[in-house]
Amino acid sequence: MTGSRERDREDATMTDPEVQLVVCPDGPLLVRGAIDLRDDEGNPIVSRRRTVALCRCGNSAIKPWCDGTHKLLRPHGGPAS
Ligand code: FES
Repeated sequence: MTGSRERDREDATMTDPEVQLVVCPDGPLLVRGAIDLRDDEGNPIVSRRRTVALCRCGNSAIKPWCDGTHKLLRPHGGPAS
């Protein structure tokens, strides 16, 4: 029988070829594919979209999703995150 800790370790080393992550410079993390997204209490966050944009700047009004606010915060040519 596999314990929870061992299972977590196995999950961390597995990659799903159907899931793609794209880090947008100064913007969101794009997630393409089916993922099991959870909030900080472990509750599922459901999206019907195949591609979602997760806010990385912390300023979105619709967290965890990006609402484009990051574009207003960093002037063009500013340092990359
Ligand atoms: S990354 Fe787009 S609003 Fe935060």
